Amino acid sequence: MSTTLRRPSTEQGRSSDRTAGPRHFLDLRDFDTATLRQMLDIASGFKRAGRVTSRPLAGKTLALIFEKPSTRTRVSFEVGMRQLGGEVVVLSDKDSQLGRGESIADTARVLSRYVDAIMLRTDRASKLHDLADNATVPVINGLTEASHPCQLMADVMTFEEHRGPIAGQTVAWCGDGNNVARSWIEAAVRFDFTLRLATPDGLRPPDDLVAWALGQGGRIELTDDAMQAADGARCVVTDTWISMADEPDPVRHTLLAPYRVTNRLMEAAAPDAIFMHCLPAHRGEEVDAGVIDGPRSVVFDEAENRLHAQKGVLAWVMGAAR
Ligand code: CP
Ligand code: NVA
Repeated sequence: MSTTLRRPSTEQGRSSDRTAGPRHFLDLRDFDTATLRQMLDIASGFKRAGRVTSRPLAGKTLALIFEKPSTRTRVSFEVGMRQLGGEVVVLSDKDSQLGRGESIADTARVLSRYVDAIMLRTDRASKLHDLADNATVPVINGLTEASHPCQLMADVMTFEEHRGPIAGQTVAWCGDGNNVARSWIEAAVRFDFTLRLATPDGLRPPDDLVAWALGQGGRIELTDDAMQAADGARCVVTDTWISMADEPDPVRHTLLAPYRVTNRLMEAAAPDAIFMHCLPAHRGEEVDAGVIDGPRSVVFDEAENRLHAQKGVLAWVMGAAR
């Protein structure tokens, strides 16, 4: 297997003692289970209330910074903030001074004077942590090359809406050990479910993240056999073979072809197993159309729940729900 495809180490060693500062939402591992549950409970309450809520974030403004493209994250944060009574400012590196070399630290200090929270999507987790270290308002991780925690809040919410409590269940990840897979690992620890990851050797999640998860008592099982991972699982999940931080590389397609989620793979899972995918999807690559467009797929509920889950995160970080 190609070792050049192995991803950089996750930042397990970084300082996570930010207890005295703003309520950042950077990674699931930074929180205890009760706090994550609190955010999901708030999210479910907002979902039940529909579009008209008590506007707990009236007078607040969220800055959204995108250094990478987005459909769901951009729209769900913007709509969610507005539904809670707040406002948004959307920036990219190209239309701000970030693209001309202004530092993340200075950007953090300046934006903190204008807005009440900042979301960043970037392909360098170090930038997210730099932003969080220098902002005096909450910072939210809108995806890095290392993780996608907002996605996992929506994914846990979606699983539980369809199949009840996720604790004690088994989820199978088939494909690249990418940013979303890494957040699934953190979710498995915090929400107490078994996660089987089937990946090619060269695309496994980082050893230090797996070691952290196992050290926390997490039930993380690694294999290179998709059928073995899917066997009896209550949920099969996958993601694109080429993430935004990756260089297009035909080697990836060769390595990942055995991990495509097909109807045959779904038949190895539990009879009532659901299929999940964070989207955007590539039919015929990581998943067959018959699966993602079939009766077991919950991908559009999952996409909808980005809105509700993030409303829970927004209310929590901005102290509208203590
Ligand atoms: N799932 C997700 O984050 O989608 P976007 O890239 O469209 O935001
Ligand atoms: N792994 C994908 C997720 C997109 C939401 C990427 O980083 O491009």
